[in-house]
Amino acid sequence: MIEAAAKPRKTCHLGWHITSRCNLSCRHCLRRTPGQATTDLAREECRAVLASYLEFAENNDRAASIQFSGGNPLLRDDFPDLLMTAAEAKMRGTINRIQILGNPETLDDNMANLLAECKVDDITISLDGLEEANDRMRGSGNFRAALAAIRRLVKAGVPVSVKFTLTRGNSDQVMPVIRLALEEGVKQVGIGQLILAGGGYEVRDQRLAPLEYREFLLEMLRELESLPEEHADFRRSFIRHNGMYALLFHELGRLEEFRNINTTRSHRINSDGGVMFVVWSDGEVVPRRELQRQGYVPRNTFQEIYDSSPLLKMLEDKARLRELAEETQRSLVKCSACPVAEFCRPGMVGVFGSHPYFAANRNCWR
Ligand SMILES: C[S@@+](CC[C@H](N)C(=O)[O-])C[C@H]1O[C@@H](n2cnc3c(N)ncnc32)[C@H](O)[C@@H]1O
Ligand code: SF4
Repeated sequence: MIEAAAKPRKTCHLGWHITSRCNLSCRHCLRRTPGQATTDLAREECRAVLASYLEFAENNDRAASIQFSGGNPLLRDDFPDLLMTAAEAKMRGTINRIQILGNPETLDDNMANLLAECKVDDITISLDGLEEANDRMRGSGNFRAALAAIRRLVKAGVPVSVKFTLTRGNSDQVMPVIRLALEEGVKQVGIGQLILAGGGYEVRDQRLAPLEYREFLLEMLRELESLPEEHADFRRSFIRHNGMYALLFHELGRLEEFRNINTTRSHRINSDGGVMFVVWSDGEVVPRRELQRQGYVPRNTFQEIYDSSPLLKMLEDKARLRELAEETQRSLVKCSACPVAEFCRPGMVGVFGSHPYFAANRNCWR
């Protein structure tokens, strides 16, 4: 007898900026966006926020994930308590993934051991170049602190990722950072183009234009292909998960090869189809950075916010979002005739009422 496949549990994600405080003051920082929260919730309020999230996940039988971010989340002296509560929830199966975006200067041996004990799934450390280039963006001494923290974490057995913010001034640093990261036992390196908000807007001339971005991808491809075979998985995943590599492979007459790159990660729009709560340090809840407020925690519970928000429900309807994104793609002149449209979904740029709007990938050079 053939058994029906079990329906996967719905998910929920909490992206929680637990503090607006930071020990660094990077020029490009998104925190400097006008209107961004500059106050933090008190200890008891944070405990209530986490309890409310866990209750939401449990009552709705959702597979829950949590990301602690900031500012620098490690600066809060109640961070260990919050983390341990999340770890206990992971032990009982409520939470399935804990991720942290933190700064290396405040990551000592005690913290590395705590993260290991709490079975943190990923800690992401930002690196925007080797020493000189990185410290130009992130401040003097940050590179050395990052390297020391990565070594400490790898030694303690905590999975580490590196996040690189790409600008005109550091695009030649991506490959040296990837090589260093792979040597040091880092699991993933994520590259993000400069976002033109907050400090990023002040340095907007640093964002690569689409044709410069194409040159960058081409140069990276040459370098990725020269990595030793032991890093073939990294190369495949890096190429496959960057939408614009499809267009480049098409132009190089290698689209079939691109199509056949095997990877275990799936293509995602917005989120994996579950509800996503982004919580700013003052408790304001938004579905995503650029979208409107849905409530305040802990004043409102996550359940109340979810129940009263058509927008949150609409954003978790993955099939509907895909449909709308494809509709937009067909209506855009350059996308409708694009040979790699299937690999490149338009991104959501905003919501009016509860209707999402999409636009072509900003990095596209067609
Ligand atoms: C907001 S920070 C918070 C965590 C931590 N303080 C850090 O910097 O890693 C999260 C990530 O966003 C990146 N970031 C900051 N401003 C950005 C911008 N304008 N565009 C793109 N990424 C940015 C940071 O470099 C970092 O990798
Ligand atoms: S990018 Fe991160 S480390 Fe730099 S100022 Fe912003 S929050 Fe702090």
